[in-house]
Amino acid sequence: MKTILKITSSARGPLSNSNKLVEKIVEELQHQHPDASIIERNLVSKTYPHLEEAHLAAFFAPAEDNSEATLVAASHSDQAIAEINQADVIVIGVPIYNFNIPSALKAWIDHIVRAQKTFSYGSGAPEGLIKGKKVYLAVASGGIYSEGPLAAISYAEPYLKTILGFIGIDDVTIFRVEGVNVPGIKESALEKGLASVVV
Ligand SMILES: Cc1cc2nc3c(=O)[nH]c(=O)nc-3n(C[C@H](O)[C@H](O)[C@H](O)COP(=O)(O)O)c2cc1C
Repeated sequence: MKTILKITSSARGPLSNSNKLVEKIVEELQHQHPDASIIERNLVSKTYPHLEEAHLAAFFAPAEDNSEATLVAASHSDQAIAEINQADVIVIGVPIYNFNIPSALKAWIDHIVRAQKTFSYGSGAPEGLIKGKKVYLAVASGGIYSEGPLAAISYAEPYLKTILGFIGIDDVTIFRVEGVNVPGIKESALEKGLASVVV
C-alpha cells in the first residue's frame, strides 16, 4: 500500500491555485492506488518554527547529551522526517511569493534537512539519506517562469530540486499553474495546469 504525504503551503485557503493542483495530483495518484493512505500537512495552519538556538543545539547534540529540552526542540524535525520516511510519494504545494517559496515551506525544509537523519558527510562527500521517494511539486505563480523572460529569475524550482536532491530525493516532477496574473493567460491558467497532470 502506498503512502502519500500531501503538503500545502498557501495562505489563500480555498482560493489557492497550488492547493487545487495538489488536490488534482493526489486524486490522480488515488486513481492508480485506491488503497493509498494519505498524510496531510498544512504548513500554514500548523507552522514550523523558525530555527532558533535550541533547535540547532538539539540537531547537533550527541545522542548521549540529549536532555528533555533538546528532545522537545527536535520534536518538530523528528515528526517531519518521520512523515517523509513513512511516505512513498510526496506532493508539495508551492505558491510563489515574492519570487520564491513561502516562508512556511522554508521553515519545514529547515526542519527536514538534518545531519545524520536526512544527509550525511560520513563518506567525505555529502550523501542524501532519503532513498526511493517520488516528489511532485505543484507550483502556482502569477507570472510565467518555466519559459520566456522570467525564466532567468526562476529561483523556487531550482532551489527545491537542489535541496531535495541534497537529502537524496532526485525523482522530482513539476506541474504548474502559471500566469494567473497575466492578462490573456490567467483566464485558462488553472484549467491548463490541472489538465497537465499525469502521474
Ligand atoms: C504575497 C504574494 C506574493 C506574490 N509574489 C509573486 C511573485 O513574486 N511572482 C509571481 O509570479 N507571483 C506572485 N504572486 C502571485 C501568486 O504566485 C499567485 O497568486 C499564486 O496563485 C499563489 O499560489 P496560491 O494561489 O496557491 O496561494 C504573489 C502572491 C502573493 C499573495
